[in-house]
Amino acid sequence: MTSHLAERQALIDGCLAMNRLGVNQGMSGNLSHRIDRGFLVTPTSMAYDAMAPDDIVEMGFDGTYLGNRRPSSEWRIHRDILRARPDVTVVLHAHPTFATALAVHGRGIPSFHYMVALAGGDAIRCAPYATFGTQELSDHALTALEGRLACLLANHGMIVLGTTVQSALSLAVEVETLARQYLYAQQFGEPVVLPADEIARVAEKMRRMKYGQPIDDGDAPEDTARPRY
Ligand code: 13P
Repeated sequence: MTSHLAERQALIDGCLAMNRLGVNQGMSGNLSHRIDRGFLVTPTSMAYDAMAPDDIVEMGFDGTYLGNRRPSSEWRIHRDILRARPDVTVVLHAHPTFATALAVHGRGIPSFHYMVALAGGDAIRCAPYATFGTQELSDHALTALEGRLACLLANHGMIVLGTTVQSALSLAVEVETLARQYLYAQQFGEPVVLPADEIARVAEKMRRMKYGQPIDDGDAPEDTARPRY
């Protein structure tokens, strides 16, 4: 019997959603989900709409795997992030058009818009280039993600982290939207960048409001509207 069926299906649904939402195209992205003693990761070079739960690869943190398919060529990125970051359950890697258009210039996304704070800091960094699938690329990614939930990869694409497939997808859409807005804004020159103390204020407000978390547990903070029962 296939183990972790729900997580396997969530990865397939997440891959299909990446393409539907414009966060990825073709079969270039990959997605992983933490399980006990390792993680599940999408197979390499396989069309998302042909993927079945058994095609998802189960891996250990030692790089060994189980299953009929080879793991994503970026399994080191997934393994290293999940090993180093206990706050992360899901790793999403994709090649979205606008984020990649910035990344091919080695550019990250500064705090030209307050929503940059959603990614956990006052800028979304761009990791230096290294060949896809290498330990060097994974090392660069891990450094660029320090204290963050997203980074760009030079001449390559984007990585987004989440606690669920849904939260990773939502953040991927936000980062791609920010990249698109930043590129449009540059039509008039370099846009105004918000100072670090304002981004810290925004981040604190988002934390108090549980901003971006759709579930309302009734624990509304003081400065937000409260439901009337
Ligand atoms: P896989 O098909 O091997 O997952 O990888 C494609 C990719 O995005 C490489 O960076």
